[in-house]
Amino acid sequence: MNALEHVLEPITIKNMELRNRVVMPAMGTNLANDDNSVSEANLAYIRRRCQSGAGLYITEIVAVHPDGCASPNSLAVFDDRFIPGLKKMVDSVHKEGGKIAMQLHHVGREGFFQLKSGRAIAPSDVPSLIYGIKPREMTTADIAEVIQAFGDAALRAKDAGFDAVEVHGAHGYLLMQFLSALSNQRQDEYGGTMIKRARFVIEVLNEVRLRVGEAFPISLRISVNEAIKGGYTAEDMQAIVPEFVNAGADIIHASFGTHGSPAGITIPPVEYEPGFNIGLARKMKDVVNVPVIGVGRFTDPALADQAIARGDADLVAFGRQHLADPDFLSNAIKGRREKTIECIACNQGCIERLMFEGGRIRCAINPETGQELKYPIGPVKESLRVWVIGAGPGGLTAAYEAARLGHLVVLFEKEAQLGGQLRFAAKAPYKTAYKHWIDTLAAKVRDSGVEMRMNTYVTKDRLELGNPEYVILASGGEKILCNVEGSRCSMVCDAWQVLNGEVDVGDHVLIVGAGLVGMETADFICSKGSKNVTVVDKLPESPVSSMTSHGYMLHRRLRKAGCTLLFKTEVEQINEGSVTLNIAGRAQNISPLQHVIVAIGLTPKIELKEVLEAKGIQHAVIGDARQARRIIEATEEGARAAWNIVPQTG
Ligand SMILES: Cc1cc2nc3c(=O)[nH]c(=O)nc-3n(C[C@H](O)[C@H](O)[C@H](O)COP(=O)(O)OP(=O)(O)OC[C@H]3O[C@@H](n4cnc5c(N)ncnc54)[C@H](O)[C@@H]3O)c2cc1C
Ligand SMILES: Cc1cc2nc3c(=O)[nH]c(=O)nc-3n(C[C@H](O)[C@H](O)[C@H](O)COP(=O)(O)O)c2cc1C
Repeated sequence: MNALEHVLEPITIKNMELRNRVVMPAMGTNLANDDNSVSEANLAYIRRRCQSGAGLYITEIVAVHPDGCASPNSLAVFDDRFIPGLKKMVDSVHKEGGKIAMQLHHVGREGFFQLKSGRAIAPSDVPSLIYGIKPREMTTADIAEVIQAFGDAALRAKDAGFDAVEVHGAHGYLLMQFLSALSNQRQDEYGGTMIKRARFVIEVLNEVRLRVGEAFPISLRISVNEAIKGGYTAEDMQAIVPEFVNAGADIIHASFGTHGSPAGITIPPVEYEPGFNIGLARKMKDVVNVPVIGVGRFTDPALADQAIARGDADLVAFGRQHLADPDFLSNAIKGRREKTIECIACNQGCIERLMFEGGRIRCAINPETGQELKYPIGPVKESLRVWVIGAGPGGLTAAYEAARLGHLVVLFEKEAQLGGQLRFAAKAPYKTAYKHWIDTLAAKVRDSGVEMRMNTYVTKDRLELGNPEYVILASGGEKILCNVEGSRCSMVCDAWQVLNGEVDVGDHVLIVGAGLVGMETADFICSKGSKNVTVVDKLPESPVSSMTSHGYMLHRRLRKAGCTLLFKTEVEQINEGSVTLNIAGRAQNISPLQHVIVAIGLTPKIELKEVLEAKGIQHAVIGDARQARRIIEATEEGARAAWNIVPQTG
């Protein structure tokens, strides 16, 4: 039996024929022009995504009203002037044999600029969950205007050649603000019971249907449950979703969560298993007879196939997998799934970059994403002898990219294993996906013809003798040692030794450093059963923000495990079995202790830079060797270094 038979089966929804059941769901990119029109970057991005061969592509949020725009660089359709650009987007998808739906959106009370300028509207004047600022309560005239705007927008989408529209009724934006009793406190016909709160969504659907005609498919994206304290449940949604179908929804896209849902579950972190929430799609299928799209951490088409075969969903959306590796479906079809780079749900380049850094879309493990216009195809005119020193994520990415472009690459790694710091990161709870990524990337590097020299320390002499034409120094960082009195005690070790299984850690443990390495080491030892774990840091709070999804989960696990976190705290002295701490100027002794684990960071390891400079060898220093940071900086700088290799002139 073909493991993909169900997911590859075509499906017809109204007048839209899909070649298979794989969907790319809406994902904001911030790639639009400053006037919210489609940019060349939008087109290049969608063209690359289309190579997945999915049946249906759904655009990112497209604003139906000037006051409904989520960000200055998101798309809009509130005026005819947007149609030509949107048409180009349609053509790009059709050229590749896919179908495209436009996601119609109004941000409601979650728009920063609208809140700042007093233009934000919502069912009630309950403050935004993201920004804590009050919107203005919509009048019935506002309601009528927005409903009309959805209808106008749907018609423009149809005129631009879109195959369908998706009304965004999920994730805490305007339509869901009406559905939720937490944000909708109206006393009129749009507030009150769930069915009354659903009235606005129903009227939007009615209007859209009226404008686009009977044959044109309309998808409704909903959050099946609100996943927040006091929010509506999947059972509440089961009661009203048939009304949405009666009002015109031909597809129910079963997402979940809202702003403020713990761990940002809408875009779930690595802690959640692939397909973890498909049961919510099933709950919708139980009460409606239109196709239902399931979503949530899908990376493997075979898993989607099983969900469809079980009857949990009719179609399955692959969101971030389209960012990490759009070739995932064609690889699966060709029986070479091992070539697919699977999304590690780190959210670094995608949602967290958009939300917290105001940046444009990227992917921590795919440097092409969001940079399609800059991505060199190769081959280069003149290939150079390139040495890459260090096989962490930065070095592996650099080596692959340089070889892909046609350079002659030698990759040196002093250890017997590839992956650098990520070998240790992958030992922390829930992070085996990181190892899988490194293994897949390493295989790609090997297949690309890179000569790999393991167990080979590049010394100054070796570098001088080898005389490469270009060097990418990806040597990472050196551990910073603890130099307080007593740090040579036998109970002192470092986080890397612990994660590597070299130390049998006892019950009473002190970890010095509450950065990611210290926190994940605490998580690791708590998961192994250590009961009395204290993490100290001289900073006022952990650099691991609980605003990020993984950070939230990590903080929560440590709290649940009874781990103590002490800030503004320095270790003054270590004795066998105890330490003296300085907690904001107050001395405190901690004992008994079986281990003190040091995780106070890394300093760039760049002893080879001197030789490179002295000998005038062209080079780039990337990743943690430049400054200890994250995966995304290592891969981004690694790729860029490879793309920028040019022969020396003169
Ligand atoms: C426990 C832990 C958890 C982490 N979790 C995350 C996370 O969730 N998200 C995130 O973004 N980041 C995380 N990090 C940080 C992340 O792993 C690093 O930012 C990233 O690995 C840096 O990549 P790099 O390629 O620059 O350097 P490295 O990964 O440090 O690789 C450098 C490589 O160079 C080799 N090398 C050094 N000198 C030489 C030489 N002279 N000759 C040959 N080889 C040499 C080293 O052996 C090493 O393999 C974590 C780190 C740890 C330790
Ligand atoms: C960067 C980014 C932007 C997103 N923007 C939207 C959006 O515009 N509209 C929407 O309905 N969902 C949006 N989502 C949610 C995704 O459509 C999807 O539901 C979510 O990522 C979970 O699917 P996945 O685990 O396959 O990535 C976004 C997700 C990401 C990562």
